[in-house]
Amino acid sequence: MSTAKLILDGNECEMPIVEGTEGERAFDITSLRSQTKYITLDPGFANTGSCQSAITFIDGEKGILRYRGYDIEDLAASARFPEVSYLLIHNHLPDQSELTEWRRKLTLNSLIHESMLNFFDHFPPTSHPMSILTAMVSALPAFYPDMEDEDTNIIRLLAKAKSIAAVAYKKSIGEPIVYPRSDYSYMANFLRMMFATPAEPYEISEVIENALNLLLIVHADHEQNCSTSTVRMTGSSQASMYASISAGICALSGPLHGGANQAVLEMLERILEDGGDYKKYVELAKDRDSGFRLMGFGHRVYKNFDPRARILKKACDEVLKELGIEDPLLDIAKNLEEVALSDDFFVQRKLYPNVDFYSGIIYRALGIPTNMFTVMFALGRMPGWIAHWREMRQDPTNRIYRPRQIYIGETHRKFVPVWER
Ligand code: ACO
Repeated sequence: MSTAKLILDGNECEMPIVEGTEGERAFDITSLRSQTKYITLDPGFANTGSCQSAITFIDGEKGILRYRGYDIEDLAASARFPEVSYLLIHNHLPDQSELTEWRRKLTLNSLIHESMLNFFDHFPPTSHPMSILTAMVSALPAFYPDMEDEDTNIIRLLAKAKSIAAVAYKKSIGEPIVYPRSDYSYMANFLRMMFATPAEPYEISEVIENALNLLLIVHADHEQNCSTSTVRMTGSSQASMYASISAGICALSGPLHGGANQAVLEMLERILEDGGDYKKYVELAKDRDSGFRLMGFGHRVYKNFDPRARILKKACDEVLKELGIEDPLLDIAKNLEEVALSDDFFVQRKLYPNVDFYSGIIYRALGIPTNMFTVMFALGRMPGWIAHWREMRQDPTNRIYRPRQIYIGETHRKFVPVWER
């Protein structure tokens, strides 16, 4: 086993080198503090491996993303979301009978407990659907308390999350909820529950179903990002899968993470309303005092291009063409991208469009309202969160997550009661 040597205060400390299957290397600092009394400091964990994982591989420099060894481009071209979910969770592609059974269970578990539906009536109509999704996912174990059967709970969560999302939407617009059908697929059920009304039986369009399938696949996992790390962090205390994933949904909601897809669209709308002068916003983003960032640009890991953004940019053109939609926001997005990509500020900082840059325009074309965009991301990321939660819980070396800190507050002070001060 190769080791790394660190010299601290004149003492030599030896640490094992760990190598992954794709040649990524780390030195294992587990014994650093006991050997040296030092800890490492890495704000934002940009250079910290929190675990070893066999789920997703990313090479940010080369723009590679693979789920369980399969290229995202191949999965996006011809897989279906339930199949990719199975792959992420079970570490192998399902054969025909496994896939049929998986799909059947996903459909049969789509119903939400009737008593649970009462909750939806008591959220104010202005509630963000991400808040409702978080609350409902963390409430699921109250209705399905048999925690022992992990496989059933995984199916329940995948199947019911999309129903919760659709019911939250229906309640927010004051329409009656639509119950799932047992002869419909995951995607068709979701679309019907979102868009059918008592007056209009929703016709499932293949273009829309395929586009949604693609969007969910490209969001399905992304190794140790903010929300997935939150799921692992929460689950490391042996909190339930539902509690851990509910925490992950909260983390996803922020505009620097999953909330960026909603923020991108709002930014493009703001530019359009402001006369379409995208160059002004590029300049604004370069001005540190403005506090403005180009939403949908930049990524902690991808430093040349985000492979998911490439897939979605192409899909965006195709979907809009097939649906016969001309969206002025798409033109603004393309111009913004062109200007930013040739601007020194963005080039030097390696800031490229990320997955969220084009996803919002596609969601909009599919009729998904803006405040549901991040919920769509959460539905896509669900199998990834589940796979990570399960991997962590099955890992015998897992310990409760408990980082350390460097304290920079007051040193010891003597307390004096208020009447003596
Ligand atoms: N617009 C303008 N400047 C930016 C942007 C942006 N979108 N992103 C980064 N920068 C600048 C920073 O100001 C910083 O400049 P400096 O070195 O002069 O101080 C430099 O680029 C590095 O930025 P960091 O914030 O240190 O990069 P970090 O890796 O911490 O953040 C993040 C990555 C959060 C994605 C960031 O690029 C960002 O805020 N982007 C906009 C939000 C967004 O699109 N989020 C979605 C991410 S993808 C996802 O979660 C699915």
